Amino acid sequence: MSALVRRATVADARELVRMRQLALTCPEVPWSRPRDVPDGPWMEECRKAFASMLRDQDPETFAAFVVDAAPGRVAACAMGFLLPRLPGPGSDKPFNGDISTVATDPEFRRRGYARAVVTALRDWMDLRGCKRVTLASSSEGEPLYVSLGFVIDNPRMSWRPE
Ligand SMILES: CC(C)(COP(=O)(O)OP(=O)(O)OC[C@H]1O[C@@H](n2cnc3c(N)ncnc32)[C@H](O)[C@@H]1OP(=O)(O)O)[C@@H](O)C(=O)NCCC(=O)NCCS
Repeated sequence: MSALVRRATVADARELVRMRQLALTCPEVPWSRPRDVPDGPWMEECRKAFASMLRDQDPETFAAFVVDAAPGRVAACAMGFLLPRLPGPGSDKPFNGDISTVATDPEFRRRGYARAVVTALRDWMDLRGCKRVTLASSSEGEPLYVSLGFVIDNPRMSWRPE
């Protein structure tokens, strides 16, 4: 089934928060069980952040693609950022892409919606000049990303302040 994908607008900010909450519940290495993601002030902060990023984009460094379930209700989304990169001998592309949130409402799964929104986001990142696109996959999402050509890449190191 081919899904009707559209670019999210400011009017979708609240729904994007709901989808982000859903995506955050997914088990991710090193967790093996779904995570509890309680409601809280973070949701209003996140709504404001989405509204701001979708309203004032100069330069445009954020995009979300969605499939609608009904007017005002999103069934699936994928969103991500363009991260500036420095030119190197192998490439002068201006960005790397980071896919940060992908989710489909449980009642709309296995209809190709995640495939459609992730493909739209990946194509947008490619068009905007990304040298590479990265993401942290859940085990549930991995078959989708592999089928779209993503590979498990070099291990990277990270640090989080206490
Ligand atoms: C992962 C997720 C986004 C997939 O959404 P979806 O809309 O059902 O995915 P699609 O219908 O586009 O399926 C795409 C492919 O993913 C794979 N896939 C999806 N769900 C799967 C499952 N439960 N088991 C195995 N493979 C699965 C299949 O390869 C599928 O292709 P196919 O149907 O042609 O076989 C959805 O299950 C979800 O929101 N999970 C919770 C949040 C999450 O894990 N997000 C990803 C974070 S990186």
